[in-house]
Amino acid sequence: MTEFIPNAIDKVEINEGNVTWRTPSNIALVKYWGKEGVQIPKNPSISFTLHNCATITTLEYQKKETASDAFEFEFYFEGKIKDSFKPKIESFFKRIEEFCPYLKAYKFVIKSENTFPHSSGIASSASGMGALAMCVMHLEKEIYPEISEDYFYKKASFLARLGSGSASRSIKGKLVVWGESDAIPESSNLYGIPFPFEVHDNFKEYCDTILLVDKGQKQVSSTVGHNLMIDHPYAERRFQQANENLAKISEILQNGDLKSFIKLVEEEALALHAMMLTSTPTFILMKPNTLEIINRIWNYRNETDSSICFTLDAGANVHVLYPKSEEASVQAFIQNELAAFCEKEQYIHDFVGNGSEKL
Ligand code: DP6
Repeated sequence: MTEFIPNAIDKVEINEGNVTWRTPSNIALVKYWGKEGVQIPKNPSISFTLHNCATITTLEYQKKETASDAFEFEFYFEGKIKDSFKPKIESFFKRIEEFCPYLKAYKFVIKSENTFPHSSGIASSASGMGALAMCVMHLEKEIYPEISEDYFYKKASFLARLGSGSASRSIKGKLVVWGESDAIPESSNLYGIPFPFEVHDNFKEYCDTILLVDKGQKQVSSTVGHNLMIDHPYAERRFQQANENLAKISEILQNGDLKSFIKLVEEEALALHAMMLTSTPTFILMKPNTLEIINRIWNYRNETDSSICFTLDAGANVHVLYPKSEEASVQAFIQNELAAFCEKEQYIHDFVGNGSEKL
């Protein structure tokens, strides 16, 4: 980890500036569920990076006139000052301070907004922490212009992970692996890396429509959620399964086997929920409409030769995954049959994107 501690410098020369990054959300295919220490995952995970669902964050920085031993920042969310978000950012800054010793030399104004509705039940920690990490790395690059592009993105993912584990997978690449896996060279528990093999054409352009089944439903908070895996009766077997599935999906993504992809992705989604169903305390995060949608996806797949499948995160919403070649037919099916099971018939069409962009 010392590779991410910059050389000490007597005085930072950069006085002020600002930067804006747009960082997307991501959807895990093999799920991260369980962590230890400081955001070290108990198993490796892989996700598709999304495009439309994103956080846009501007960081304005100005060197303090007199040095102080405190983080000084204001935070605006969607144009309004939002002090309730400050503790989260303060603890993020504390966690990354060792790796970003220049933070206390500046006063910051952070302005953030999401492209998706606030109360959609879509987790914003991945895109939010990802965007903030990108902005911090921009400042670092100003101070240390010699850092390489590879280091820039690796460290951005490393910092994002310290904010939220899944955020490490929102930095760069269409498919991102986070967590050590024997199947993926250079994979690391400390940061995400772009999937290192050539991806089959079948998976190059993929779509994800997020069905908003229960917008008000608070997902199980990540702290509570990951802690459920401590002393969980099936924890060890689950971590082993995720490792096996990561090796399998790596082959599948290269050989284009859509049937095996569907089977694995749906098993992962249900395994995640099975962990919640069997933990102490138990959580049932699926709603009747979640199950209705899953059954209808299965029927549609049986009746057509569609490669549609679903995945879930830690909530009631359903992510419908399908190849770009089926965009028109699957979107018609969603509108005609599945929308009725969404709150206010709302859903968000998204697709696989490339990761964070500087605006
Ligand atoms: C179910 O990344 O939100 O979405 O590291 O505590 O911030 P923290 O957790 P978080 O957990 C995401 C869990 C998941 C599965 C996944 O994205 O892999």
